[in-house]
Amino acid sequence: MRVAGRHYTTVWAAGGDEPGVEIIDQRKLPFSFEVETLRSVGEVATAIRDMHVRGAGCIGATAGYGMWLAACECRGEEAELRGLAADLVATRPTAANLRWAVERQLAAILDGPAEGWAGRARAEAEAIAAEDAEWCRRIGEHGLPMIREIAAAKPGGAPVNVLTHCNAGWLAFADWGSATAPIYAAHRAGVPVHVWVDETRPRNQGARLTAWELANEGVPHTVVVDNAGGHLMQHGMVDLVLTGTDRTTYTGDVANKIGTYLKALAAKDNGVPFYVALPSSTFDWEIRDGVGEIPIEERGGEEVSVVGGLRGRAVTEVDIVNPGSACANYAFDVTPARLVTGLITERGICAASEDGISSLFPERGR
Ligand code: MRU
Repeated sequence: MRVAGRHYTTVWAAGGDEPGVEIIDQRKLPFSFEVETLRSVGEVATAIRDMHVRGAGCIGATAGYGMWLAACECRGEEAELRGLAADLVATRPTAANLRWAVERQLAAILDGPAEGWAGRARAEAEAIAAEDAEWCRRIGEHGLPMIREIAAAKPGGAPVNVLTHCNAGWLAFADWGSATAPIYAAHRAGVPVHVWVDETRPRNQGARLTAWELANEGVPHTVVVDNAGGHLMQHGMVDLVLTGTDRTTYTGDVANKIGTYLKALAAKDNGVPFYVALPSSTFDWEIRDGVGEIPIEERGGEEVSVVGGLRGRAVTEVDIVNPGSACANYAFDVTPARLVTGLITERGICAASEDGISSLFPERGR
């Protein structure tokens, strides 16, 4: 996608002789756009754990490049390579794409003599990132007709109002985004869209990242507090809820940023379609019961009690919670499949059910 008129992906190999990975440091957005260079697996692990990069697909693509650095660092020792892979996987527990990318890399790297490990790892990292971008682009193609249809039923060319939560935009993937891909496709096709952007406490990925992306692409949008969605839906101001997901079971239960479940409940109560967009790298083909089995990351309470923002020209932080009060910070929740109208994948749209998913991915049939 474009930043100041230039095309970017979220992660790429650094130029020069020394192996390195470049990322967009998402902690700095929207107040400054900074590219960070990572030179070791340890730096990649820190970047994922501390959310310099975030979002399921972007975490996976970054970990893919991290495995290239691991292949360079491990001096042909398989045990060391596996140890570095485990370090990467341990950085964030919920997003399925992280383990998926690391396991794919291990298979690719170990499929030949140690002299070729670094070369194969780099090629595989580039393939993972390119595939992520292409799958998201296809998600946009598959979601576009749905938005067109809603637009056609609205009087006088009124915009389709889409509500989204967190950032499932291009920053959360290699490019395009999952939830945003149909929105970008519609906007580029001239279908009028307006996006309600949930601010997404505690880290405000909606207010900071999704809003920044949409502004860069010229997509009309309005940031709302996380609790506004129910009100907007009750008053007919939302035509469609579209979110991403960090892990989706083969039965259609969806883990996503904390607060997504409440949006799905409100959507159900108000007859608003609730769609979830994901590349197939986000499916967990082992887990049946999302609520019971998907590990939910718990992060530090300071993300709840301290808020960062711009004051004048300086980025600063302020405490917003009663000093001494405990804060809990569950990063994700699970929306049961029964509340999900459909899943938009790179292969098309399906019901959020075991049958629906296996109709698109028969090779995964159980
Ligand atoms: O904790 P984060 O910011 O890494 O959260 C992940 C997400 O970006 C969201 O949950 C998103 O909606 C789905 S991942 C593309």
